[in-house]
Amino acid sequence: MCGIVGAVSRRNIVPVLVEGLKRLEYRGYDSCGVAVHQNGELRRARSTSRVAELDTQVRSDGVEGGTGIAHTRWATHGAPAVHNAHPHFSHGPGNKPQSWGRIALVHNGIIENHDELRAELTAAGYNFDSQTDTEVIAHLVDRLYDGDLLVAVQRATARLRGAYAVAVFCRDEPHRVVGAREGSPLVLGLGVAEDDGANFVASDAMALAGVTDQIVYLEEGDVVDLRLGQYRVKGRAPNGAHQEVQREVRTVRAHSGAAELGPYRHYMQKEIFEQPGAIADTLEGVVGVSPDLFGDRAESVFKGIDSVLILACGTSFYAGSTAKYWLESIAKIPTNVEVASEYRYRDSVPNPRTLVVTISQSGETADTLSALKHARALGMAHSLTICNVATSAMVRECELAYITRAGVEIGVASTKAFTTQLVGLFLLTLTLARVKGRLSDEHEAAHMKALRHLPAALQAVLALEPQVVAWSEMFVRKENALFLGRGLHYPIALEGALKLKEISYIHAEAYPAGELKHGPLALVTADIPVVTIAPNDALLEKLKSNMQEVRARSGELFVIADSDSHIESGEGLQVIRMPEHYGHLSPILHVVPLQLLAYHTACARGTDVDKPRNLAKSVTVE
Ligand code: M6R
Repeated sequence: MCGIVGAVSRRNIVPVLVEGLKRLEYRGYDSCGVAVHQNGELRRARSTSRVAELDTQVRSDGVEGGTGIAHTRWATHGAPAVHNAHPHFSHGPGNKPQSWGRIALVHNGIIENHDELRAELTAAGYNFDSQTDTEVIAHLVDRLYDGDLLVAVQRATARLRGAYAVAVFCRDEPHRVVGAREGSPLVLGLGVAEDDGANFVASDAMALAGVTDQIVYLEEGDVVDLRLGQYRVKGRAPNGAHQEVQREVRTVRAHSGAAELGPYRHYMQKEIFEQPGAIADTLEGVVGVSPDLFGDRAESVFKGIDSVLILACGTSFYAGSTAKYWLESIAKIPTNVEVASEYRYRDSVPNPRTLVVTISQSGETADTLSALKHARALGMAHSLTICNVATSAMVRECELAYITRAGVEIGVASTKAFTTQLVGLFLLTLTLARVKGRLSDEHEAAHMKALRHLPAALQAVLALEPQVVAWSEMFVRKENALFLGRGLHYPIALEGALKLKEISYIHAEAYPAGELKHGPLALVTADIPVVTIAPNDALLEKLKSNMQEVRARSGELFVIADSDSHIESGEGLQVIRMPEHYGHLSPILHVVPLQLLAYHTACARGTDVDKPRNLAKSVTVE
């Protein structure tokens, strides 16, 4: 999704801005650009290619300057095209002068009233070069500018409806960048005083890794005025006026987005293979089941709740869907799981004794953050997040948190974040069961033993990769696939289908196997692979009947079976044999061959595995 980097400095800051964009590339984008203040004018370079191309372009065009902003764009309003790429310029009403541009601006988010503002600015004589909602803000700042950029940005943002993080500079005020945020994240990075007085703004601390670790997380409604060696933040008071505020400066050791690939071809493959370590790290320091794992207030919160509401999107939603089975069968707590973007817009019946649990890798997903706020507005005050980024908005917004230690996940397709989320959710289940008196010492010890053994069990599953590669060769020319699972493994079937579709572009759908005869069986022919998750659990015999239904229609089965499931390969039936059944934690093992299947099929089809088309890593717009 869109990314912002901006800076004021005495040296040429373009290499730092471009490097920042490279660190944000993992989020997904379809164009990029940079603008600087150079010899009293605004200059920019924009590209619909990769940031590396932009780098070449700025070097060959001699784009240099100490004050600048840069952006990666993920198209919402207007196609991915150079004229829609940020930064956008405004030079005032009328036609462009020779050396044009007074205001340069980059923006993340969506402006909902852009049509209305566009009409107003057009009537005032402004010409538009793009279809973006962003250009509207650039012109609005220009229109409201009378010598003080900070004031102009405050006035302009007061007119915006929707979500934004912006960084702006002005031809007439060198060495000044102004930022503002509402609904989209923005951080301030403080340069080292003895250096050149540089200060930075970015959509994410990772963009500034290696540049500064002194980070200020701006709050909703904040505007920031960056100058050489100084900055000030103005917070929005309840009456809408801005007043100078002090925001905490945190030391954030953000990892570089450009982590080494090592022996792997793609980050996704690397991240799949990192899962044993990520789970071991996530469990580090967990000596037993205790509410303290989730925060100081967790025990009293857990005692007072009688239900759980899980809010999440995409893969995180499937982690939540798996956890529902655990929470209801082990902790006996009624649990609802809702797609965040649906929940916030429907009428629901709130229960103040509900624990609202958000799940998010990035901690910045706009839909999930909004759903959380919606639940709170309905009177559900207790919230907990399972999140991979300790400094994210999600962690700051929630009362309680469990931080997964998956490490930076760069591949757009989520893998290690998912399995570590499941570990966090299983610990939550055990803790709630314990607090409610529904977990014996004996059962707790058995569950903890199984959790601790997970990294080793995962290694055994990863060793099956060559068999999955052989399957992927059979999937490479398919255009459709079905995934089946039952019970606890139905969400895993959904996750397998999501993985396959998002990176290989094969149309894939998942069903609870018992639903097959209620409709999807009509799709089954000899040409459609049917991936079936067959653990040796209480539903295995039912599942075997569903497999017969597929075979009777010549459907080709690809079965991931536990070694004790007793399913043999035969005509139209390929089996990958997993270790023995792993009880409640079996989904964490069974998802791995599905991740590998999607990965190797995508490689064989030659797609851009880590940055699939149209998708972004961190979805910070609604
Ligand atoms: O950062 P989050 O976990 O909140 O992201 C939620 C989804 O956008 C994300 O899981 C998405 O579905 C992934 N691309 C799936 O691989």
